[in-house]
Amino acid sequence: MSANYNNSVWFYDFLTGLVFGKTLFRAQVYLLNNIKPGNKILIAGGGTGKILEAITSIHHAGLKITYVDVSEKMIAASNKRDTGKNKVTFINAAIESSKLPDNFDVVITPFLLDNFTEENLQKIFSRIDQLLLPGGLWLNTDFQLTGKRWQKIMAGSMLIFFRIICAIEAKKLPDIQNCFNNNGYRIVEQKTYWGDFIITTAYQK
Ligand SMILES: C[S@@+](CC[C@H](N)C(=O)[O-])C[C@H]1O[C@@H](n2cnc3c(N)ncnc32)[C@H](O)[C@@H]1O
Repeated sequence: MSANYNNSVWFYDFLTGLVFGKTLFRAQVYLLNNIKPGNKILIAGGGTGKILEAITSIHHAGLKITYVDVSEKMIAASNKRDTGKNKVTFINAAIESSKLPDNFDVVITPFLLDNFTEENLQKIFSRIDQLLLPGGLWLNTDFQLTGKRWQKIMAGSMLIFFRIICAIEAKKLPDIQNCFNNNGYRIVEQKTYWGDFIITTAYQK
């Protein structure tokens, strides 16, 4: 079953801002300088679409962006964003069941992969991997556990909250970095935030 973030669209940005300030967004924006003019970009799980405006402030035109989110309310909110003269196609569907061409230069997954159980993460990872061209970039931002007790408590509490409100399936943070390592991805750029709890990485396929 896919998560249902429809219930959270009106408070998601406010609540995450209350807890993390601008850090979740800053961590995603940090990687956007890797996008080149004319790139074909897939954004999966972009939420309310703030990232579209951040991308547009760097590239006002010429990008071809496919924006996939399983929540129709998140898609509706994203549709209102200023995307300049870039061509944006919005798709309201789960990324794993979307019919998409397999020729993206860049894929972006901001706080998407933590929604899944370890088993489903492997499937979703493989599906997104198929869509990215060899040599393409995967910009991933998410939480990680580095052995600090407070991180485990914080991650556990957030997952319980989003399991109740948005029916996400994850009960613990899956090992996202392991997926990239096991599939031969190379780290191009990486930065951590919030006592290493948040990690943003540009991987090359
Ligand atoms: C934790 S929110 C992150 C939103 C945004 N990226 C941000 O950082 O503010 C996860 C987003 O992924 C979407 N999502 C969850 N499962 C999905 C799936 N299987 N396919 C596509 N989108 C999905 C949700 O609807 C939601 O918008």
